[in-house]
Amino acid sequence: MPNRYPPGPANFNFWCGGTWRHAWHLWSDALSFSTHMARRYGDVVFYRLFYYDAYQINHPDLVREVLVTKAKSFVKERRVMGVIRDTAGESVLTTEGPTWQRLRRMLLPAFQSSGGHRLGEIGVRHVAELTDQWHDDQTLAVNATMTDLLLRTAGEALLGIRDRSVIATVADAMSRYSLAATSQITSVVRLPGWFPGSSQSQIERARRTLEPIVDAAIGDRRRRPTSSPDLLDLLLGAVDESGDGQGLSDRQARAEAVSMYFAGHHTAAATLTWTLYLLSQNPDVERRLFAEIDGSIGDRPPTPADLVRLPYTEQVLKESMRIYPPAWNLFLREAVEPVEIGGYTIPRGGWVFIFPWVLHHDERSFPEPWRFDPERFTPDSAERIPIGAYVPFGLGGHACLGGRMAMVALHLMLPALLQRYRFSLAPGQGEPVPEPLISIRPKRDMRMIARLRKRS
Ligand code: HEM
Repeated sequence: MPNRYPPGPANFNFWCGGTWRHAWHLWSDALSFSTHMARRYGDVVFYRLFYYDAYQINHPDLVREVLVTKAKSFVKERRVMGVIRDTAGESVLTTEGPTWQRLRRMLLPAFQSSGGHRLGEIGVRHVAELTDQWHDDQTLAVNATMTDLLLRTAGEALLGIRDRSVIATVADAMSRYSLAATSQITSVVRLPGWFPGSSQSQIERARRTLEPIVDAAIGDRRRRPTSSPDLLDLLLGAVDESGDGQGLSDRQARAEAVSMYFAGHHTAAATLTWTLYLLSQNPDVERRLFAEIDGSIGDRPPTPADLVRLPYTEQVLKESMRIYPPAWNLFLREAVEPVEIGGYTIPRGGWVFIFPWVLHHDERSFPEPWRFDPERFTPDSAERIPIGAYVPFGLGGHACLGGRMAMVALHLMLPALLQRYRFSLAPGQGEPVPEPLISIRPKRDMRMIARLRKRS
């Protein structure tokens, strides 16, 4: 009979029985707390969060068990999903069971095909529009700038919106929604929607802005297909071929578009932000990357045909997502039945935490984990990384649906940024402190100077 409780910190105190200490530490400094738990207590750690039994999984093999071989014993925790559902609706991101299976079955083939190329092409155009507005020695709040860039890119690619003022409205609503959702997911108390200024009221306001715009975009596209299909076309064209043969209703298409917009923009923005930072700190890598970009594409905008000529760019992005995984923790899982992981029984209702942040900095998988070394991701070296050790896009049935697409888009957008500008930390900007919100971003943003490399 497996043991019930893995090692972990004390969960009781003399005065009031249960302890709120761990919940407080997790809430106030999740990166240090999760790292400390793994280093101190090992591959499976137990702690109590309020009245919930929490299990933190820190070994690649066990991560694989939770997300792949025993995935049927877990669902994504319902409260967090509820917050996302409040704006996005029932989508592949927020559902479980047969509804999720159907949506995933329909959308996966479409999203693994060429959608990334289109996203990338649109992204490159938006990079050009953005950098056209900069001048030599431009000071930037990098995360805010990259987030805005991705909001605009995804607004066009996912919702087919080209009108600048409408994109700005959508981007504003989505950014308000993201902040409010982050606050809801991470806060203990949830104020109702009628409470002025509450995050719930912000979410509802964002939904009221987004819904009519997205509905109009869907209606328009149904009536008038475009000659250059984008992600909205992928959604509207997806059919459940091995099931009922039907496609998505307008309502379902809206839910998918909004949740993908939500899932995709801040993660991709965080990747660009941290990559620019890491390059600024690692001149040898930066030099080699510039040489690849200059030698392969020169001054013209990168296109999907260039991807094969930019292998080092991809390695740089992957290594950046290792050191700063945008999804620093996976969605919290809840056991739906007792299940054995690593010799311990996780009871029904038990919470399971998997932190890419912890796994990606584990010396057993990545020696000298803080060294920025894109050589870890040459094809030969990458093959030696254990499954479950590197999970920027998750693993198993719920792994990121847009992961491949996001990689392609970033693989084109990063060279487009670096063709023209070189980035260094602004004077007075200290080392950025990673802040784990929905994705990981520099606390109080990060100021960098963009210096012109070449006149366009
Ligand atoms: C750098 C960019 C991105 C990162 C790092 C990222 C990361 C992730 C991760 C870690 C998960 C799995 C969460 C879990 O298992 O708990 C996930 C799921 C998901 N992502 Fe992404 N993502 C990115 C971009 C995108 C984009 C561009 C889209 C859509 C266009 C997208 C759509 C989704 C969806 C729909 C899911 C849920 C899949 C399911 O549950 O079946 N993501 N993402």
